[in-house]
Amino acid sequence: AHETIILGIETSCDETAAAVVARDSAGRGRILSSIVRSQWDSHRPFGGVVPEIAARAHAECLDELIRDAMAEAGIGFERIDAVSAAAGPGLIGGLIVGVVTAKTIALVRGIPLVAVNHLEAHALTVGLTDGLDPPYLLLLVSGGHTQLLLVHGVDHYTRLGTTIDDALGEAFDKTAKLLGLPQPGGPSVEKAAKQGDASRFVMPRPMLGREEAHFSFAGLKTAVRQRALQHAPLSDNDVNDLCAGFEAAVLASVADRCGRAFDLAAEMLGEPVADFVVAGGVAANQALRQTLRDLAESRGSRFHVPPVELCGDNAAMIAWAGAERLARGLVSPLDAKVHPRWPL
Ligand code: KG4
Ligand code: ZN
Repeated sequence: AHETIILGIETSCDETAAAVVARDSAGRGRILSSIVRSQWDSHRPFGGVVPEIAARAHAECLDELIRDAMAEAGIGFERIDAVSAAAGPGLIGGLIVGVVTAKTIALVRGIPLVAVNHLEAHALTVGLTDGLDPPYLLLLVSGGHTQLLLVHGVDHYTRLGTTIDDALGEAFDKTAKLLGLPQPGGPSVEKAAKQGDASRFVMPRPMLGREEAHFSFAGLKTAVRQRALQHAPLSDNDVNDLCAGFEAAVLASVADRCGRAFDLAAEMLGEPVADFVVAGGVAANQALRQTLRDLAESRGSRFHVPPVELCGDNAAMIAWAGAERLARGLVSPLDAKVHPRWPL
């Protein structure tokens, strides 16, 4: 079958990534290469992502990463049918680096540019990994976003819920920071929680039973801080137990909110949700995956989650979203703008 080959570029936050993905005429995808370079060693001394450092780091290594992704795919630029880049949401300096690079390649080669929404790319990743077609219910959880979406199709989403304060990944990162664990916080908190006792510090379960499918995590973070202050100085055991208590509260709240979204989505679809997907960086969390797999099973729904390396930021998802848009004629002009804020 004829295959379209897309180069994808991701520079919206603290990961520089380039990937080559093929999409056949039946709409099935294949990753030819996917390279991700984390900038965390540059940001760690500052305790968080520094936008100016991020933009410079993207500019320094993106060309090299694209060359490596092409080499790993074993093809030359003449084989690329289109180039896509994350054009938002994200940090403006990094977005400009990625989009300008994509425009340059598109212009020189005379091929289409596809400016991609980073959130849409997370949302469509299961099409690449599982060949899953919409409609499906999606929990999108990353460092900057927490949303429950009904995915009707490419470019067509209904938002069922969002966070009223912190994103879930942000809650993990802030919890890690206040407990003195290394950034990015999600993996550190998960690791500590595995060794901890969740029953020692029982935290509030935010938003339980609310009508809407919204989230809130700011109160939980405050609860962790209060308990940490009460028990200072903290032993490793205390930290593990606090992380376990935090994670247990997160899981209870997320499961409850997703359960509500199942009901809202079923009302909209006029039938029960057949497929439930979790995506975004926090979807790497094993305990979260298990909780959501159990929820899906209790609802008679199939559960899907991308492999861990495609949950966090990567360019394969950008290339795939680009391929999906290109297949529908949704290409971008060469004067396409970046959008630091760009809700789905
Ligand atoms: O999607 P992503 O790579 O970047 C954004 O678009 O934000 O998500 C990064 C977020 C960070 O907040 C990070 O701490 C969180 O995902 N994360 C995790 C885990 N791995 C990454 N959170 C909980 N458990 C994990 N294992
Ligand atoms: Zn992301």
